[in-house]
Amino acid sequence: MSSLQNAMRVVEQDQAQPGVHRREAVAAAVDEVVRATSTAYTAQSASYEQAREAQPWEWDEYLTATLLERVRGRIAEGSLPLGAGKQWQLLDVGAGYGRDVLRFTEEPDIDAVALENADGFVKYLRRAQGEGRIGPDGVMVSDMRDLGAAEAARFHCVRVHATLHHLPVVSHGLGADAAVAGFRHVLLPGGVLYVLVKAGSGVNIIDTGEGLGGRFFQLFTPALVKQLLECHSFSVVQMEEAVEPRSSGNVDWLFALAVAK
Ligand SMILES: C[S@@+](CC[C@H](N)C(=O)[O-])C[C@H]1O[C@@H](n2cnc3c(N)ncnc32)[C@H](O)[C@@H]1O
Repeated sequence: MSSLQNAMRVVEQDQAQPGVHRREAVAAAVDEVVRATSTAYTAQSASYEQAREAQPWEWDEYLTATLLERVRGRIAEGSLPLGAGKQWQLLDVGAGYGRDVLRFTEEPDIDAVALENADGFVKYLRRAQGEGRIGPDGVMVSDMRDLGAAEAARFHCVRVHATLHHLPVVSHGLGADAAVAGFRHVLLPGGVLYVLVKAGSGVNIIDTGEGLGGRFFQLFTPALVKQLLECHSFSVVQMEEAVEPRSSGNVDWLFALAVAK
């Protein structure tokens, strides 16, 4: 059995019976999931870019417009103070090769920062930074679980597009819990969290047919997303589901917007 399959077994047992494994055992399983995911994306970062560019989906643009409208609306109505600067701060978690962060940097009112932990993608982001397309402080090389140690209340918006589902929902405050706690930590009160995850239930190793091989996915029901966000002081203000038609097969998505209390 591979290390990832062993880790999956621990995760599944923890999900079936929370607390059945000691914290160290669950932490080691989550670390293995993160290591395997990062290795897969680093090995295939070029083919991932080609797959995303080849199959743009109009729902993505709708989600972006929905997010921008929500953040700008909250700033305009005074429920999310802009502070001293002229721009608001957006953190794109799991930014990949930077397609979306580069789109946000073109907006005059947004200062966008990309967070990424896969070396292959970090190279793309550094190259864009070197070309001046991402600001000098615009790349954060970090695991999304480590945001608890970052500067508190720095961001007006945290966007987590197709990234959170690479962490399992487990006990002991690890995995997805640690990440969501970190999102809340770096957000200003009244700030907006955007989450897009694969919909479904349970955990699985899925090959999305894009040349990336099998990767770990935590699938989410609306109730699980709501519970996870509410337990970290977020109010869910919008939730939608959609099916993306891909040549490799349909993908079920779940989108949520939440506000930091
Ligand atoms: C499906 S890709 C989405 C990339 C990008 N948001 C997009 O839509 O094109 C998932 C991204 O999350 C990153 N990722 C996965 N686990 C992570 C972790 N623990 N910390 C930081 N980034 C992570 C991957 O390296 C990858 O860039």
